[in-house]
Amino acid sequence: MEFDVFNHEQMHEFGLKLSSQLPNGTVVALLGDLGAGKTTLVRSVAKGLEIDEVVQSPTFNIMKLYLKSKRPLIHIDAYRLADLDTDIGLDEYIGYETGLTMIEWPQYIEKLLPKNTLFIEISITGETSRHLKVYSQDLKLLEVIK
Ligand SMILES: Nc1ncnc2c1ncn2[C@@H]1O[C@H](COP(=O)(O)OP(=O)(O)OP(=O)(O)O)[C@@H](O)[C@H]1O
Ligand SMILES: [Mg+2]
Repeated sequence: MEFDVFNHEQMHEFGLKLSSQLPNGTVVALLGDLGAGKTTLVRSVAKGLEIDEVVQSPTFNIMKLYLKSKRPLIHIDAYRLADLDTDIGLDEYIGYETGLTMIEWPQYIEKLLPKNTLFIEISITGETSRHLKVYSQDLKLLEVIK
């Protein structure tokens, strides 16, 4: 599935949809360059889950859990795990059964991603426009967010 968003508002709508439609345990892998909008999309999902805390880029702490919400949100930024071979136990949190897991820079922890990961690839096409490619081996996931 591919589509374009032309502004923040449309990206936000997409995030809200993810927050309400994705089943518990879904792992979302967010691909895209620096500044593509990965964290921005996580913020919209957080809003949809009624998380009041400001969602920051977790680059410096790698992972942040939001538990005071409609359902748990796990936000991982694997950027700093590039080329790191150490097992830091992240796999315990990926797909945590009662919540959503959203991972920035998932290519650095590829081996930890479940088979049914939902991939969202964001490309910058203009100042506020973005092209999105959404794919997964789990076709049911694509069906629910259509
Ligand atoms: N339609 C849009 N959707 C998302 N972000 C947008 C959009 N239009 C403009 N932006 C801007 O693009 C930037 C996206 O930054 P963001 O931190 O979300 O990127 P990122 O993909 O998480 O980058 P990084 O890899 O550094 O973590 C923000 O400054 C945001 O305001
Ligand atoms: Mg980010």
